[in-house]
Amino acid sequence: MKHLLKLLDMSGEEIIEVLNLADQLKYETKHGIEHHRLKGKCLGMIFEKSSTRTRVSFEVGINQLGGYAVVLSSDGSQIGRGEPVQDTARVLSRYVDGIMIRTFGQDEVEALAEYGSVPVINGLTDFCHPCQVLADLMTVREFKGTLEGLKMCFIGDGNNMMNSLIVGGLKVGMAVSVACPEGYRPPQEILDFAKGYDCFELTDDPMTAAKDADVVITDVWTSMGQEEERQKREAAFAGYCIDEKLMAQAKEDAMVQHCLPAHRGEEISAEVFEAHAKYIFEEAENRLHAQKAVLVKTMGE
Ligand code: CP
Ligand code: NVA
Repeated sequence: MKHLLKLLDMSGEEIIEVLNLADQLKYETKHGIEHHRLKGKCLGMIFEKSSTRTRVSFEVGINQLGGYAVVLSSDGSQIGRGEPVQDTARVLSRYVDGIMIRTFGQDEVEALAEYGSVPVINGLTDFCHPCQVLADLMTVREFKGTLEGLKMCFIGDGNNMMNSLIVGGLKVGMAVSVACPEGYRPPQEILDFAKGYDCFELTDDPMTAAKDADVVITDVWTSMGQEEERQKREAAFAGYCIDEKLMAQAKEDAMVQHCLPAHRGEEISAEVFEAHAKYIFEEAENRLHAQKAVLVKTMGE
């Protein structure tokens, strides 16, 4: 695996291979089995947006693999002063063995990979959040024992999370149903991809989407960079909260996932959040294991 830029670039089999390695690394970590598979290797991490989970899990992960991280934020580097990504890519490639980037435009991540000569990992763009969805799929498989044939539903904004869940879910054989208001649907590129699957459903009715779902997922209504639209979005997404009424549509043993941070009382009720906390925080932990698998697959092979 050369890079992880978006799940659209991966086959279902490649996704499953990453999940299998993630399970193995999780087992080894839990049992104190050292796995210095990236001994001495340096991961450069670029953050042009805030982060808690991605920041910490990547740094801890590369350390557990025997490597180390160098962190650049747009504020404290020339990136924030407008140095072209094409130049940053060629410079960093001479210092580090791999680059993780969290930024706005997907084109920036693609350019980093094109101009640099080391593996690039997408730690979230406006378009997608592949690392998160690998962790989500890992978590679902851990609790349900399988992915194929399960129904995943996503209620909310046609954002980076919805995009990656549609692609990742369909590629591994899940049925995917999404509910979003008119005007907040996923981009055409994602809808074109999903068109090829009979088991994809797009609706503006959350109750329909949640019907008989095994996994119910949501994310914030206002993503990073959209803060000025908050009020407009709150109005548009009224009725799109994962609450007990909505969960009653799903299967009785349905599990909830949320990439976090969560806004209780907006996209998810406090009751549903707490009732599913064991799944949601395992999902957060699995960021570490899934990303270590991505680091090994990209920087180690
Ligand atoms: N879910 C997620 O990516 O969290 P952070 O923004 O804290 O990294
Ligand atoms: N959709 C959210 C995900 C945060 C992890 C955002 O982009 O802000």
